[in-house]
Amino acid sequence: MKLLILQGPNLNLLGTREPGVYGRKTLAEIQADLDAAAAVLDVSLEHVQSNHEGELVDAVQRAAEQGVHGALVNAGAYTHTSIALRDALAGTSLPFIEVHLSNVYAREPFRHRSLLSDLAIGLIVGLGPRGYTFALEGLVQRLRHA
Ligand code: DQA
Repeated sequence: MKLLILQGPNLNLLGTREPGVYGRKTLAEIQADLDAAAAVLDVSLEHVQSNHEGELVDAVQRAAEQGVHGALVNAGAYTHTSIALRDALAGTSLPFIEVHLSNVYAREPFRHRSLLSDLAIGLIVGLGPRGYTFALEGLVQRLRHA
């Protein structure tokens, strides 16, 4: 099983970016934790991070073309704004779980709206970096027993 781990803008700054909100783990450390979990689950991961909306759209389209089975998506701020990314996920029917490190519902009102959530299998918010590994387990479980 092949899965895409899609990370949006500013997530490349994890580790130093607002550590009180996002913690001190770097993106590379989160990716390493996911790779270790993926090995146990016997799935393979492709990691993509981009600060550019169109590159995230391209990554979703490419994944669907290549037969990737599902995705974890933390679209960062594009979660709240990107009709293009929503359309890519809807248009490819790529099954995905939406992940946010922080509890977006406990933050500013503009973070309470997600353009992706109703398309997602499920959401994990507010659990920090561990949320990604929980989401990976949930996604694999769902895809294996779909
Ligand atoms: C985030 C929450 C978003 O509102 C924010 O723009 C991010 C990170 C999170 O993981 O908590 O960049 O997606």
